[in-house]
Amino acid sequence: MGDSGLERIVGDLYPYRKTTKAYRRVPAEPVDRAAILAEIAGMAHAEDERGDKGTVSGSLYAGDHDHYHFLGDVFDLYSHANVLQRDMYPSATKFEGEIIAMTSDLLHGTGVGVVTGGGSESLITAMYAYREYARMRRSVTKPNVVMPRTAHVALDKGAHWLGVEMRHSPLTDGYVADVAAMAELIDDQTIAVVGSAANYAHGLIDPIEEIAALAQSHGIGLHVDGCLGGWLLPWAERLGYDVPLWDFRVPGVTSISADTHKYGYALKGSSVLLYREKALRKRQYFTYPDWPGGLYVSPGFAGSRSGGIVASTWAALVATGESGYLAAADGILRTAATIRDGIRTGIPELEVIGDPLFLIAFKAVGDLDIYLVNDALIAQGWRMNALQLPPGLHFCVTRPNTAPGVADSFLEALRGAVGYAQQHKRERAKSGAVYGFGGTPQGNTLVKTLMVGVLDAMHEVAPDVPVS
Ligand SMILES: Cc1ncc(COP(=O)(O)O)c(C=O)c1O
Repeated sequence: MGDSGLERIVGDLYPYRKTTKAYRRVPAEPVDRAAILAEIAGMAHAEDERGDKGTVSGSLYAGDHDHYHFLGDVFDLYSHANVLQRDMYPSATKFEGEIIAMTSDLLHGTGVGVVTGGGSESLITAMYAYREYARMRRSVTKPNVVMPRTAHVALDKGAHWLGVEMRHSPLTDGYVADVAAMAELIDDQTIAVVGSAANYAHGLIDPIEEIAALAQSHGIGLHVDGCLGGWLLPWAERLGYDVPLWDFRVPGVTSISADTHKYGYALKGSSVLLYREKALRKRQYFTYPDWPGGLYVSPGFAGSRSGGIVASTWAALVATGESGYLAAADGILRTAATIRDGIRTGIPELEVIGDPLFLIAFKAVGDLDIYLVNDALIAQGWRMNALQLPPGLHFCVTRPNTAPGVADSFLEALRGAVGYAQQHKRERAKSGAVYGFGGTPQGNTLVKTLMVGVLDAMHEVAPDVPVS
């Protein structure tokens, strides 16, 4: 790789290496608070600029700085508090209990759940509970989980960590779970099956009722990943959109994850994992009465947790209220429909994947390179999420994208980007550089080596690369 390539990668990873001091050890003397705040504010404001314009897919769900400031004020009151110490902070019990109750009410649950630090933690925790439950009740020793290949990759991470075999099932032509194919993968060591409402890649809802019937016929649980849709789909249903049943109204759904830090508009670091029955939740509890440090009891993976997160999550739900969630959902769903229908009717070179409501995934028709389309969108300040297998892009519509004119200017930019891709057919797309390298053992090894290198770099202080 030439110097300029290295400089570009280093520049992307460490953009502040030339403008801020890098600390390799604790400074000998305290740095002035005002200077610290000014430096952090500079980075935060610069980094917020793009998201605030409404040109970013997903990631920022509320996009409302008044709301964030309010949550910040609430966070401030409890930032130092440890949720573990209930004798000191009994308010945490009120906040957590009510966050669980409100989420459960929305999803027609039984009021049984836990608050976790995010979607991945909810998914991995559920998998752990199913593994332990199956071990205890059915003596399962070689556990496996069956899920459509679009289910969130955090479940693969969980399977990897927990020694669970992950069995991926193919999709139907409509890009949702093929339930007959799932059935073929189930055996006596299957601890649970999974469906999404909706999935990350294409924003589509799997046929949960069918998957639930399958799970019941085998006497196993069904986890529905509602991390993304859990706090949006119920409002869509109330607004009259055609949302198939996917929550606890479906017999056979035994657990649901729903992220408050996505469409619940809470600060990052919170999610709810609901169970139909306490017996399953009990499997994730940890109690240790014989520790020299005292009696130890912990509901989940984390030990100490900041009270700021539970207090501000509770505040986000209460401060938004039903009418606030409905109004936000209305704007999001209308914007998404404009984008979806605009692609379907106005850009024949692209195809919308499935029939999505709020997250619009699309792929190229024919030999158009969708990553070249992405290159042109990036150049105009748009930040989509790149997909693979098949190559595609998605726009997960959130509140910042509902600002007047955003959907129309996106469609215009997208039309222009398709034109760019047609004109630059012979070029290699920058934004798709590593996609498609996998697929073979050698390709996978290369991509994995690259990804590990990036992870290493993300945990280091900016290197002193000579810059010309
Ligand atoms: C469907 C789905 N499940 C799980 C997750 C993981 O959530 P988190 O990033 O909070 O761990 C996401 C994240 O986008 C998601 O879209």
